[in-house]
Amino acid sequence: MVINESNQPAGKKLVIAIDGPAGAGKSTLASRIARKLGYLNIEAGAMYRALALKAISTDTSFEDEPALMELAEQSNISLEPRLDGNRVLLDGQNISERLRHQDVTDAASKVSVHPRVREWMVAKQREMGQEGGVVMEGRDIGTKVFPHADVKIFLDAAPEVRGSRRFQQQNVPPQQEAAIIRELRERDKRDRTRANSPLEAAVDAVLIDSTSLSLDEVIERAEDIIANKLAARGL
Ligand code: C5P
Repeated sequence: MVINESNQPAGKKLVIAIDGPAGAGKSTLASRIARKLGYLNIEAGAMYRALALKAISTDTSFEDEPALMELAEQSNISLEPRLDGNRVLLDGQNISERLRHQDVTDAASKVSVHPRVREWMVAKQREMGQEGGVVMEGRDIGTKVFPHADVKIFLDAAPEVRGSRRFQQQNVPPQQEAAIIRELRERDKRDRTRANSPLEAAVDAVLIDSTSLSLDEVIERAEDIIANKLAARGL
């Protein structure tokens, strides 16, 4: 079944949570679904990345939770929806491009282990999604940010497939492929083993394994999941 803005129940805007490890295809899926439904697409990772960038540019240690909290409190992180994806603004400056650099990726995974940093992020994310009409993607959206989300999808893929997808997205020499896969595994391990809100599928999430699926097939499955959830509720 095809989902779009017109077959959404009037007056009821859903919260759709998409979680999973790096390189599984969450961002592409979330932005496609959000565009189809006319929903806001919120990338939780971009918020952790923005704080990480601020820590880098102010020379703040990624291990220093109180200092990171001070930075967070002083920061204005906002997501500006655009047709070609969100623009991320940090204190009014467009940092969308810079956020994708490897040093920020690595730092985001380190600052996100701190419980108080997570609490701060979760509160902001709840605020952004409180009206519904949102597709939020991250690591703990279905388990922590919106445990009562209308739809929960956990998107996964084999680590070597996720690693080579990441490699292909970046314009880097072939000899860097092994390092990219190694970094992705390290980040995965940190995300899955941290004490606070580790990456895991919510018990009521529907799993999509994208290892051998095309993007179109992933989107089709996600749309079926959303349509089934709506139908099960008689919406
Ligand atoms: O999704 P993305 O790769 O942009 O996320 C960057 C980092 O932010 C992740 O490696 C993870 O450590 C952290 N993150 C998180 N919880 C989320 C989203 C991202 O801890 N909900």
